[in-house]
Amino acid sequence: MTGIGVIGTGYWGKNHVRTYSELVSDGFLERVVICDINEKRAKELSQAFNIDYLTDHQALIDDSDIDAVSIVTPSPTHYQLAKEFMNAGKDVLVEKPMTMDIDEAKELVRISEETGQILMVGHIFRHHPAVKELKHRINIGELGSIRLISSNRLSFGAPRKDMGVVYALGIHEVDMFCYLMDKDYPESILADTRCTLQQDIEETAMISMDFGAATAYAFESWLMPASGKQRDLIVVGSEKVAKIDYLKPQELQMFDIRIAEKDFDGKTNFSVENEGSYTIPIPYAEPLREELKNFIDCIRSRDNPLSNGLIGMRAVEMAESALESAKKGCKIPLSN
Ligand SMILES: NC(=O)c1ccc[n+]([C@@H]2O[C@H](COP(=O)([O-])OP(=O)(O)OC[C@H]3O[C@@H](n4cnc5c(N)ncnc54)[C@H](O)[C@@H]3O)[C@@H](O)[C@H]2O)c1
Repeated sequence: MTGIGVIGTGYWGKNHVRTYSELVSDGFLERVVICDINEKRAKELSQAFNIDYLTDHQALIDDSDIDAVSIVTPSPTHYQLAKEFMNAGKDVLVEKPMTMDIDEAKELVRISEETGQILMVGHIFRHHPAVKELKHRINIGELGSIRLISSNRLSFGAPRKDMGVVYALGIHEVDMFCYLMDKDYPESILADTRCTLQQDIEETAMISMDFGAATAYAFESWLMPASGKQRDLIVVGSEKVAKIDYLKPQELQMFDIRIAEKDFDGKTNFSVENEGSYTIPIPYAEPLREELKNFIDCIRSRDNPLSNGLIGMRAVEMAESALESAKKGCKIPLSN
């Protein structure tokens, strides 16, 4: 029997509760309990899904039928909660950003290693079915060598007050770029950020990551009315180009296009070879459900999650480096 507690039932925590509750109905999980210091919120959700609720996380620590928790509280609270639960012998899935401080992130990884508790981080895009398909095609060499990656995560909305776009959105990209390039870190990060509404909380960022043979660019903004939300990823290889619209988890677009080089009379000439494009259909799977299933599998098997604590820690380090780069106006080197 596996029991899981969800701590924090706000905007994103509600999705954890709904998904775990579906996994209970599908016979994949035995028990889920909600915990929120906002009793009204916890009670409403508990009634909607017919599950128990608590208002103090200590009661979850004391419950021997709770094996693990999803921590979906504001990011500055992640460190303390994750530490308490791992030290109490519970496995932890903590939302991204894992922490907002690299020393705290390192400490959580250390506690996980010392206690043997699972530490997973909500880097949900590693669980996105189109990303898994793309990663497979990169691994088998279908795209050739990667030359360029570009990602946009744009919307128009009220900015968060607790963190800017680098920690809220860019954390996804810095991790995704390393995942696709099969690296722990890029060689360096260069970023430019803009705060126009609040001091020290950027609502726009351009982040570029140098991987040597390839460069990856991320454009993040809450100030870009790009006909609703825009969340895409383009990977340019020497043989093919791939595009994912994150809002469409059921497809991966492939462009059979490349720059051909021909030597003629001692000179190199370039030309475009375009053999058209096609869409690869992908069976529907909700990324959050895939992520939570991976967590439950790891609680039972003690395997390493797809988005483990080290991955979350490196993402925090890269987000910190991006903010440092924007502040100092220079590239920040990182070592693999
Ligand atoms: N993976 C993703 O794509 C994704 C998307 C959105 C948010 N997030 C992350 O999820 C986390 C929560 O974000 P949100 O937008 O849902 O925040 P939110 O403010 O809407 O909700 C946070 C909830 O946590 C509760 N809470 C705070 N401290 C608590 C404690 N000690 N014990 C119990 N409950 C407590 C609050 O009462 C609130 O209901 C953040 O870390 C955010 O970065 C991840």
